[in-house]
Amino acid sequence: MQAGARSVLSEKAGRFTESVIREMTRLAMKHGAVNLAQGFPDFPAPAEIKQAAKDAIDRDINQYAITWGAKSLRNAITEKFARTQGITIDPEREITVCCGSTEAMMSSMMAIINPGDEVVVFEPFYENYGPDAILSGASPRFVKLHPPDWSFDHDELVRAFTPRTKALILNTPNNPTGKVFSRAEMEIIRDLAVRANAFVITDEIYEHILFDGARHISMASLDGMRDRTITINGMSKTYAVTGWRVGWAIAAPPVTSAIRKVHDFLTVGAAAPLQEAGALALQMPLSYYDKLAETYRVKRDFIVEMLGKAGFRCFVPRGAYYVMTDIAAFGYPDDVSFARYLVEQIGVAVVPGSSFFNDPADGRSIVRFTFCKTETTLRAAAERLSKMHIG
Ligand SMILES: Cc1ncc(COP(=O)(O)O)c(C=O)c1O
Repeated sequence: MQAGARSVLSEKAGRFTESVIREMTRLAMKHGAVNLAQGFPDFPAPAEIKQAAKDAIDRDINQYAITWGAKSLRNAITEKFARTQGITIDPEREITVCCGSTEAMMSSMMAIINPGDEVVVFEPFYENYGPDAILSGASPRFVKLHPPDWSFDHDELVRAFTPRTKALILNTPNNPTGKVFSRAEMEIIRDLAVRANAFVITDEIYEHILFDGARHISMASLDGMRDRTITINGMSKTYAVTGWRVGWAIAAPPVTSAIRKVHDFLTVGAAAPLQEAGALALQMPLSYYDKLAETYRVKRDFIVEMLGKAGFRCFVPRGAYYVMTDIAAFGYPDDVSFARYLVEQIGVAVVPGSSFFNDPADGRSIVRFTFCKTETTLRAAAERLSKMHIG
């Protein structure tokens, strides 16, 4: 097709690039590098969950599920939200099961955003939120999280709210920083959202990956927030099944009606047999989540020690499974050239920090490692990184 006076491609698609994180995975494969870039586990999912998926296929649950989610999974989501967060929801009117939390976020934004609306986003941010804003038509307003503890400046957050603010996107436990927002911080956000009559869309996909006594608080549990919160979650991280693409959005009935419409015409529904397996997964006892957090704590301690030895300055995470590191000691001009050197010469793939910032210059001295990998993988990375030179 020839480009004429009219642009062949959409203006929106031209405003963002391909995912840097997923590009790093492709580079890792090309160079035979250890992939500490993309956040997917390289160890098996729990056997009983896999068995439940196989059983569902054998039971011939192979046709479309109800577009907003199989009843068994919606019931399990309801039961687990009550059991772990003390929040009661209606599975018939307040849940939309989507193709991963990625689609849940996109469908939610498309359901509430109008032209001219603004969304407040903490920065550094999970890279999807930028394109989510562009595709839904929102203008993002960024508020910095400052290392080493990734705290925000109260006045800067106040200034980010304007009469056009439609929502704030919160991700706790946070990717990429590992920050777990405290109750006091969440109350500040709550007060501003209430005053601005804005939504909070909260991505809680790492809710069970917590260290050092950190506790996850769901925004919807705060006074005044139940009906203005859209809670996004999914199976990917908690049950090590990132390829299954099962996630969900929880919101008040009128909001859910809009999300369900968008979702229906975007994807119709998530994989039916995998939703059945999800219903079983969400009934796991609390001990499963304690063990998950402890397993990741061991991996976190290992990677922080290994990176420290190799010359990285680590910002130790309190949740999720990433470590942000300062690379100033290595003397590279920027994060992208350093990441290229790591993947090509050392054989370890990471994510350049600039992909988490609106202005790439802000991430110039940062790269992110993930540690959702087996001990063997992490040891292979340690071996390779020990060959690095500082300065
Ligand atoms: C903060 C955050 N939200 C969402 C996702 C994607 O989740 P899903 O696999 O459910 O689409 C990721 C994946 O890395 C993530 O880090």
